[in-house]
Amino acid sequence: MNRNAVNPSEHLPVFHELGLNGFGVDPSVAYRAAHAHPGPGIFRMPDGDGLVVTGYEALVNLMRQSALGAQNRSARRSGAGAHGPLARLDDNSPFFMDEPVHAPMAAAVYQPMSPARKDYLAETISEIAYSAMEDLLRQEGGDLVHDYAMVIAATFWTRFLGLPDEYTATLRDCSASVVPMLQFKCTPAQIKAANDNAEVLLSCIREHYETIKACPRTTLLHAIAPAVEGCELPNGPADAAAVAAAMTFDGIDSVAAATANVLYTCLSHPDQFAQLRQSPSLIPAAWREAMRVQPSVLGLQRSPRQSIAYAGVSIPADVNVLLLWAAGNRDPRHFDVPDRFDIHRPQFKLLSFGGGGRICKGRYLAMLQGQIALRVLLERTHSIQLLVDKPAWSAPGMVRSTLSLPVRLE
Ligand code: HEM
Repeated sequence: MNRNAVNPSEHLPVFHELGLNGFGVDPSVAYRAAHAHPGPGIFRMPDGDGLVVTGYEALVNLMRQSALGAQNRSARRSGAGAHGPLARLDDNSPFFMDEPVHAPMAAAVYQPMSPARKDYLAETISEIAYSAMEDLLRQEGGDLVHDYAMVIAATFWTRFLGLPDEYTATLRDCSASVVPMLQFKCTPAQIKAANDNAEVLLSCIREHYETIKACPRTTLLHAIAPAVEGCELPNGPADAAAVAAAMTFDGIDSVAAATANVLYTCLSHPDQFAQLRQSPSLIPAAWREAMRVQPSVLGLQRSPRQSIAYAGVSIPADVNVLLLWAAGNRDPRHFDVPDRFDIHRPQFKLLSFGGGGRICKGRYLAMLQGQIALRVLLERTHSIQLLVDKPAWSAPGMVRSTLSLPVRLE
């Protein structure tokens, strides 16, 4: 039974009635329409397809509610569905786990990507970023999305897994095939490709597992293996290779998209980019502000294990709730002139990585990649000419990315 079809709150406005046709192409149109609506920023999806939350306060309150668990995948109407190789692989990602198995697995994957591993992470990412930048400088330019942000993310992830560099292209292709599953619409061919690639990815990592075990003990697999192999809880992961494979889309495409969006946002504000050249100490603030206005993950669905309430809205168990973090980042009740990119904005809470116990476990890795990419770009160039006025953006969906950023570099 599709439990999501139960209409949770008849009196809530429907999201699509707000004139949000531009959602995806320029989702800020949708955010503004939602914020102009009185109320806490909680809407119904059309056709009884769950709820969507856009208000800053509502998002912050809901993310603290421990009953809000993993997405109810059997109630999803888009993507690759609740069955098949991709869904079976996803079962191994902490994102799709519920308690009691979620907490230990989330802790295990966070550790190797946390500030505790700063030296290894920063050193490896910097080496890749400098090398990619040298290639771009030799050609006096290129595409900062494909030749830089994506190269950094895919090469890093391959090395982090402990696979030889020649597997970078395979991992990148497998990861890319998942992108359409987060679009509002995907074709049967895209669903097939995502499922086929889920199997390729898993067997590729499993085949190398014994060799990886013999590598220096810096890999993701080494770090998570004890917790994964020692896990005897019901619905636990299959093995460490499956957990690593299930996080490959986050480790490559989510991060590359974030870095691409950050680079574009900074470059398309030449006055503020000039300030970054003058004062590289502003890089962390610039990265944070760019992640606020142009995050790569707009929102993700979660579902309460038991009924929860906020601001008079009751959310029944098992209903999918789309937490639209990107909208909360632009709530005018919380941010002054929210659509303005301002690297001098006073300290704020960034919602782009979610929050509470289920906050993104790759946020520190994503931050390092974005900030190092920006620093190396500034350090190794005198001038950068952006060769497009308005770049193309990915198809409407929950991941939003600048597709191409051609530049001339000196
Ligand atoms: C800039 C890139 C990224 C963005 C914008 C992003 C965003 C998010 C968001 C919004 C959530 C949901 C949080 C919630 O529901 O409260 C999430 C969860 C998660 N992310 Fe990321 N993510 C990124 C990169 C990564 C990377 C690189 C990894 C690991 C390789 C990763 C691993 C995870 C995991 C494991 C979860 C589930 C956490 C849990 O349930 O405890 N993410 N991410």
